[in-house]
Amino acid sequence: MSKVRVGIVGSRFQADCIAGAVKAVPEEAELVAVASPTKGNAADFAERHGIANAYTDYRDLLRDKQVELISITAPNNLHAQITIDAAKAGKHVVCEKPLCITLDEADAMIDACKTAGVLLLYAEELFFAPKYVKAKQMADEGAFGRVHLVKQGEKHSGPHSPWFWDVQQSGGGAVMDLGCHGIAFCWWFLGKPKVKSVYSQMSQQVKRERAQGEDEAITIIEFENGALGVVENSWNRPGGMDDSIEVFGDKGQTYADMLMGNALPTYSEVGFGYAVEKAATTKGWSYPVFEEHWNYGFPQEMRHFARCVRGKETPIADGETGRVVQEVLYAAYASAGQGKKIALPFRPKGVKKPIDLWKNP
Ligand SMILES: NC(=O)c1ccc[n+]([C@@H]2O[C@H](COP(=O)([O-])OP(=O)(O)OC[C@H]3O[C@@H](n4cnc5c(N)ncnc54)[C@H](O)[C@@H]3O)[C@@H](O)[C@H]2O)c1
Repeated sequence: MSKVRVGIVGSRFQADCIAGAVKAVPEEAELVAVASPTKGNAADFAERHGIANAYTDYRDLLRDKQVELISITAPNNLHAQITIDAAKAGKHVVCEKPLCITLDEADAMIDACKTAGVLLLYAEELFFAPKYVKAKQMADEGAFGRVHLVKQGEKHSGPHSPWFWDVQQSGGGAVMDLGCHGIAFCWWFLGKPKVKSVYSQMSQQVKRERAQGEDEAITIIEFENGALGVVENSWNRPGGMDDSIEVFGDKGQTYADMLMGNALPTYSEVGFGYAVEKAATTKGWSYPVFEEHWNYGFPQEMRHFARCVRGKETPIADGETGRVVQEVLYAAYASAGQGKKIALPFRPKGVKKPIDLWKNP
């Protein structure tokens, strides 16, 4: 069957990851277009990745007949509108995390894609990260007995682009940005059970001047089967991205450190080009990682999504996945605001952005 023709919306950090992922699975997909509003950026990106068509307006990309599947790598507050426009244009959608800002948007995105008969795929690469997939395979085999606690942490020194710090565009702080991964991870790892309650402690510890949202958070998710998920997030950990899991059952446990655990413990007095995402320096001790995208699962995710478009596989991360995460995000912010556990289902009305549930409980 022919390769799935991909158009990318956005041209910076995650757009590069997606372009790398598509190029890593040439038997399944190819890049045909990119759209980005800043003058020259789409053209530069197209040249860098060998893409034929570059647009400044994503709606022109949606009119491009070549494009079958779009990947949205724009700020969070734009995900819903771009998805709905793409669905109307008959394009399948891969949407970056978090799915959107509000639960109403999540519903509208899912409905628009359903109505148009296109796929809405949710880009949660942790479902494809080789170490984490191995941990899940062992758990599903029974290696740890009944798993009662799953922990996931994602921590770094703070976002690279100004819009992440602006809650109007991002919807919140470290939990919205990084916690969405951990929420999805715990839910997926445990076999997608119903969420019973959420407790979250959020604070601004270090970046009070810059962060409108939380820069530190611990979130506890209680699942219907009694198991717990613990999600730890920070924008205050220098030294490069820290992404790790711990899994505990009555018959065993496993630990996985996605990046540092696959790195070369390195000391250099003079430094070198690149170590790992968000590492500010390569002088002194550092942890240069190899096959970074593969360790995250980006190419494996793209292969799966392309195969879903061709009907060869069934999505394991879709709009519904994003909505589950979105509801837990709401509950986490509300919990931080009210200082108590929030029971699900949780669907407060009139929410403009999740962080409001913390700041104005
Ligand atoms: N899966 C992951 O691990 C991961 C990692 C990083 C970012 N992300 C997500 O990807 C998305 C983008 O993040 P990023 O780090 O690439 O941000 P970024 O700031 O590096 O890039 C954002 C891009 O969006 C473009 N953009 C802004 N307005 C636009 C519009 N109207 N139409 C089209 N493009 C527009 C910008 O020009 C820029 O190219 C966010 O939702 C973020 O949460 C996911």
